Amino acid sequence: MNILGINAYHGNASAALMQDGKLVAAVEEERFNRVKYAAGFPVAAIRYCLQEAGITLADVDHVAVPRNPWARLGTKLLYALRMPRFARERAKVLKQFVGIPEALAQAFDTDVKGLRAQFHRVEHHRAHLASTFFVSPFDQAALLSADGLGDFASTMWGSGEGSRMRIQGAVAFPHSLGMYYTAITQYLGFWKFGDEFKVMGLAAYGQPSHLEEFRRIVLTNGSLGFRLGLEYFAHHREGAEMSWREADRTPVLGRLFSSRLE
Ligand SMILES: [Fe+2]
Repeated sequence: MNILGINAYHGNASAALMQDGKLVAAVEEERFNRVKYAAGFPVAAIRYCLQEAGITLADVDHVAVPRNPWARLGTKLLYALRMPRFARERAKVLKQFVGIPEALAQAFDTDVKGLRAQFHRVEHHRAHLASTFFVSPFDQAALLSADGLGDFASTMWGSGEGSRMRIQGAVAFPHSLGMYYTAITQYLGFWKFGDEFKVMGLAAYGQPSHLEEFRRIVLTNGSLGFRLGLEYFAHHREGAEMSWREADRTPVLGRLFSSRLE
């Protein structure tokens, strides 16, 4: 069985191919088009994965994308009313996700009716959890996924057993450890998409001299996980300006922190 995973229209566009339960290839589009963190549709990455597996697109049984437009629809709509510009941007991206079978067929110069693959939209954080647990050597594991934002959630946890995952909790937008890390990275003067790795590197040399201040920026929230001190952030008000779609340039992210943080 051939399963193709595609990360498209988002930073680090990429593809991965599983063949009879084994990972055969996984690669980011930036390796081929030489654009750091390239977004867009990862045609070259998909082509490479198929080549490595020695198959064609017609041999793919399942295609999975890590995004489900229907997940947390209520929350999405609520924020769409408050942040129309942000909602328009996200809606464009979600529309592209719906059109992935057509985009795939078009990229490989074939008719969409000729594809026998079933297409699956997997909620973002379930995809993160599945991509680690199901290819791990463990039969049982605790699962945790934490990032910026995917399908309006930033964090999800649960347990895995055999071929099943049980989701036990999630933290939704605007509370996000990834966005918090990006906000602090921007405040320190690193504005380029992906610059968080520089702050991660620098962090090892620092001392926790501002720990008390930081405890007001990220707060624990009992069994609900954590929440952000939203007065220090801007992304929940207008929505962060994000541009992911173009394949030929690095994604751009607007300012996430408020003047209160300064
Ligand atoms: Fe993610």
